[in-house]
Amino acid sequence: MVRGRATDTYRGSMPWIDVLASDDVEPGAVVGVDVGGERCVLWRSATGILAACDARCPHQWSDLAHEGVVDGEELVCLTHFWRFDTAGRGSKVSMTGRRDPKGDVPRLDVREDGGRIQVQVGDSRG
Ligand code: FES
Repeated sequence: MVRGRATDTYRGSMPWIDVLASDDVEPGAVVGVDVGGERCVLWRSATGILAACDARCPHQWSDLAHEGVVDGEELVCLTHFWRFDTAGRGSKVSMTGRRDPKGDVPRLDVREDGGRIQVQVGDSRG
């Protein structure tokens, strides 16, 4: 678990919190971080899109830092195979290939600046 620290760059009242180097989250990686007292995960899709969300799966609270794996452009919880896109939208694919909507995972705003990853905890969640 990595602990982030706030920077002096603000958007409104929400500080951007510096958490990791960009190179620490390569395509296909899932990394647990502690941001402002919240347990979160950073993950990067196969094509390189960086995403950040709560570490708790909205289904039965598995820790996505340990149970989450990247499959293409989605984060998959291996406990019961719910899937989340980079916007946090949840779904599950049946054995026949049908995709059903499931609960969303709260996401965090995330950005890369100067080779560093920064996140905001707050108004983007939900
Ligand atoms: S706890 Fe994640 S899919 Fe069930």
